Amino acid sequence: MILVVKSGGEAALAEWRGHFAEFAPGLECRWWDDPALDPAAVDFALVWDPEPGRLARLPRLRAIFGSGAGVDAIVADPDLPRHVPLVRCVPPEATQRMAEFVVWAVLSLNRDSRRMAIAQARREWDYFEAPCAATERSVGIMGLGSMGLRAAEVLRGIGVPVLGWSRTRKAIPGVECFAGWAELPGFLARSAVLACLLPATPETEGIIAAPLLAALPRGAGLVQAGRGVHQVLPDILAALDSGQLSGAVLDVFEPEPLESDSPAWTHPRVTVTPHVASLPSRRERARYVAGCIARLGRGEPLPNLFDPARGY
Ligand code: NDP
Ligand code: OXD
Repeated sequence: MILVVKSGGEAALAEWRGHFAEFAPGLECRWWDDPALDPAAVDFALVWDPEPGRLARLPRLRAIFGSGAGVDAIVADPDLPRHVPLVRCVPPEATQRMAEFVVWAVLSLNRDSRRMAIAQARREWDYFEAPCAATERSVGIMGLGSMGLRAAEVLRGIGVPVLGWSRTRKAIPGVECFAGWAELPGFLARSAVLACLLPATPETEGIIAAPLLAALPRGAGLVQAGRGVHQVLPDILAALDSGQLSGAVLDVFEPEPLESDSPAWTHPRVTVTPHVASLPSRRERARYVAGCIARLGRGEPLPNLFDPARGY
């Protein structure tokens, strides 16, 4: 069986091969642009952002594995072979790392780490007190899927009050759950920090814009680790300048990398991270993909399948 890989660049192939040799001995791992590769011999693809039309040229493909949890860069391909299952990459390490990022970002906002970093760079002893403990500042999570659920659990674990919003209603112990557009205003009004862990879909594109930001309590914090297309960056910066937002941790942008002249880089209330909220190791991703291939071999259902009807 042959797995073709386009994730992390050709330099990463040796590492992928080493991990697949451990978890799926017998699986031949080939580079996406290998000129000697026979497209008709490829069984599986592991990709992040395949060039449009390329997957359609692999006639024997049995499954496509996204190398991340969000597969928007794959489904953007108009010629994506829709009959082939598309599996989102969600090993336990991915949800744990995302939860850790969200906790770090929430605590950074609560403690105003950005202010401390600026003061340190100026060698200034800028003494100030955090306004409240994290247990007194509720966090609203938009998106209660694999990422949002784990983030909610870990935040609850340190005593943070957590609310969540999703398309369909969830029942998560200790988390007040809201569902659908009608319940969004009530959810936002109670989210002192808003964390976005939504997928990029036509419905969620542009959701973090002036109307949503105005619906948050004054001085709210924002953690954005979904996708750059969710946000209208000028609206976020305007909300920060007006005091409607007190701080933002932004991990995702459109386009990426964030343009060098973006005002977000230097804004005193913005922390920019380079799309690193949750990047599980190649070893854990290879273990996950190998596990899925073994499931296919046993005729078992695949986990975390992209659903074309929902768009995520
Ligand atoms: P899931 O598909 O498991 O969960 C998506 C969640 O979003 C679900 O709760 C879903 O609702 C909700 N949702 C989708 N559309 C809407 C809508 N229109 N209104 C309200 N809720 C909606 O995805 P994951 O949790 O695995 O990943 C989420 C996203 O996180 C990824 O798509 C990616 O964009 C981002 N991500 C970013 C990373 C980073 O490093 N920055 C790393 C990994 C992921 P319901 O439960 O009802 O279906
Ligand atoms: C992902 C990501 O979707 O890293 O996994 O953004």
